[in-house]
Amino acid sequence: MTDHFQNLPDSYQIRHITIRPNIVLAPMAGVTDSVFRRLLLSLGGLGLVTTEMTNAASVTPKAMQRHRLLDYLPEERPIAMQLSGSEPELVAAAARQVEALGADIIDFNCGCPSPKVTGGGHGSALLKDLPKLSRMLTAITQAVSVPVTLKFRAGWDEDSLNYRETARVAEEAGISAIALHPRTKVQGYAGSADWERIAQAKAAVSIPVIGSGDVKSAEDALQRLVETGVDGIMIGRGAMANPWIFRQIKQLRAGEPVFQPQPADKRWLLLRYLDMLLETMPEHHTMGKLKQLIGQFYVGLPGSAALRRDVQHAKSTAEQRQIIEAYFEPYLAGRMVTPPIVEAPEELEGALVES
Ligand SMILES: Cc1cc2nc3c(=O)[nH]c(=O)nc-3n(C[C@H](O)[C@H](O)[C@H](O)COP(=O)(O)O)c2cc1C
Repeated sequence: MTDHFQNLPDSYQIRHITIRPNIVLAPMAGVTDSVFRRLLLSLGGLGLVTTEMTNAASVTPKAMQRHRLLDYLPEERPIAMQLSGSEPELVAAAARQVEALGADIIDFNCGCPSPKVTGGGHGSALLKDLPKLSRMLTAITQAVSVPVTLKFRAGWDEDSLNYRETARVAEEAGISAIALHPRTKVQGYAGSADWERIAQAKAAVSIPVIGSGDVKSAEDALQRLVETGVDGIMIGRGAMANPWIFRQIKQLRAGEPVFQPQPADKRWLLLRYLDMLLETMPEHHTMGKLKQLIGQFYVGLPGSAALRRDVQHAKSTAEQRQIIEAYFEPYLAGRMVTPPIVEAPEELEGALVES
């Protein structure tokens, strides 16, 4: 089994850019800001990060002086910046601005199912109009010299599955790689991601294909690479539950012992995130971000539901810090021992909604 994993390809090309390892962080609006990306990059094993989706209409020369969604630091390179939009000329102009800002790759969103986004003809609404999507992608690829990638869903609904066609439209428009989340717009996050669709998209084009959806463990990721022959794996919610997943994949692939985070590591992660957030954003934003992460983070220890609830009800970051320190203290002092690793993730409260 391990040999099997060791022989898997571990990189792919987005034109001249080598993505190694071929395991990347999924863009998540409201989550994958510069702090989150840098925290995860610091844990190792992560090949590429992408900004949160940014509406092309907000990418004006004035806004570019400090566009919150497009903030990044050099250590995040290579970095992809994701745009959404419905007007080819406007998106092409935004792509030029984003290129000037230093994007290594421009990613276009054709997957967001949020009614706010599709209502304006953005995101997965474009799956209903592939000729328009084609014009859009051609306009972007012609406007910039950096590579352009596409992230999309399997179709609007089960009766209009057009992922193979969308993949081909992208390739013909000069797109350098595609990432498919194989649920439909109507499906939202219900059911499970059908990786057979990703394998079919891979067979339909010769540009790199990255698969996205429901990868929750290192085994899941490598098994998906084996089964579908895709070029890369993208992980979103699984990285919020377990930010060490990228490092674990690297170790499993190499046949090395796989890091199992201990209570001290989990405490460190939560407090490090809090500190990094406080360096870049106001108190109330920091509190909200920590509440969001702890809602998804896999604690895997007794009393974790109460920890989550208390952090979510806290009134200040000082209180959040104190709750986390008090929760982990018995483990650090040796009064409580870490229970054996449980395979099944605990039930997470509060579903995340793609914004
Ligand atoms: C909170 C949240 C926000 C998301 N925002 C974006 C986004 O801005 N752009 C995008 O292309 N996909 C977005 N997605 C979709 C993810 O990139 C990914 O394709 C999807 O969650 C399936 O992968 P997962 O099961 O690993 O999370 C978002 C998903 C979540 C949960």
